[in-house]
Amino acid sequence: MSKATVLTGITTTGTPHLGNYVGAIRPAIESSRDENMAPFYFLADYHALIKCQDPAIVRQSSLEIAATWLALGLDTSNAVFYRQSDVPEIMELTWILTCVTAKGLMNRAHAYKAAVAENEESSENDPDKGINLGLFSYPVLMAADILMFNAHKVPVGKDQIQHIEMARDIAGRFNHIYGEQFVLPEAVIGDNTATLSGLDGRKMSKSYNNTIPLFAPEKRMRKLINKIKTNSLEPGQPKDPEGCTLFSIYKAFASTSEVEAMRQNYANGIAWGEVKKHLFEYINEQLAPARERYEALIQAPEHIEQQLLEGAKKARAISVPMLQKVRTATGIQPIGS
Ligand code: TRP
Repeated sequence: MSKATVLTGITTTGTPHLGNYVGAIRPAIESSRDENMAPFYFLADYHALIKCQDPAIVRQSSLEIAATWLALGLDTSNAVFYRQSDVPEIMELTWILTCVTAKGLMNRAHAYKAAVAENEESSENDPDKGINLGLFSYPVLMAADILMFNAHKVPVGKDQIQHIEMARDIAGRFNHIYGEQFVLPEAVIGDNTATLSGLDGRKMSKSYNNTIPLFAPEKRMRKLINKIKTNSLEPGQPKDPEGCTLFSIYKAFASTSEVEAMRQNYANGIAWGEVKKHLFEYINEQLAPARERYEALIQAPEHIEQQLLEGAKKARAISVPMLQKVRTATGIQPIGS
């Protein structure tokens, strides 16, 4: 049986938080150990430039994300772990795909539409104000990431489904014009992966500024957990675990029987302070060994760099011949050959 190619990218504009871990990183690391899969995971640093023009943030985020994945035990003997910008063929493919992509398709991309809507709401007379072409055509870059490696499955959050559909459209269009070159990818939305709430009870997300960094130092982690918003029920009053942020985080880490026991504690009126204390101790114990490896890696960036360069080498063993095929299909080739 040939292995399924699974591919996903992480935009390098932030520090990994508990929500990223539970929703994306943990399942990806599990897949990296699955012999039936050929996983490709990469730092989407060219995607970062679309929304972040602070070089220090892009640099720091790349370091933190790479260190996080390695500290959590990513199996780099099975998974190809690389930095997008180390694979220049992706950029070349982006242009080729741009030329088969309908502008109208990009007009419908929701990141772009949301930016236009925001301008219109603020009674701006230029609907495209502040929108760069990178934002406009970023589904094409994403399609190049995916199609380059003929990925079958692309694990992503719900907000990215449209982009995978666009990648399929673009692949189909290319195949129609130039002959079959690309596999049509499928989005995979984790159904057993939890969505965590953040400090304020909304979905944990960098854009809401309500995150708990995955490897926050112990003291800070305790402080942040203590800051999580609860209702004002007193100790002794029964509490509802549904919709409770503390419970949602606990559930993402604890075993079924532990979760049941906590549910019982809620019914019995456990104090919020107690829940917070228990939650902190529980996740701190689970994350401590990886946090130690993380801190060591951050102190040894050359080791991380080495891993990424090895990953890029493996990626390019595929991307170089793939681009060659695609170029030839389009007539970009040496004269006389
Ligand atoms: N755009 C994705 C995000 O913001 C990240 C990404 C870039 C990606 N390239 C990709 C995800 C290719 C999957 C496949 O989450």
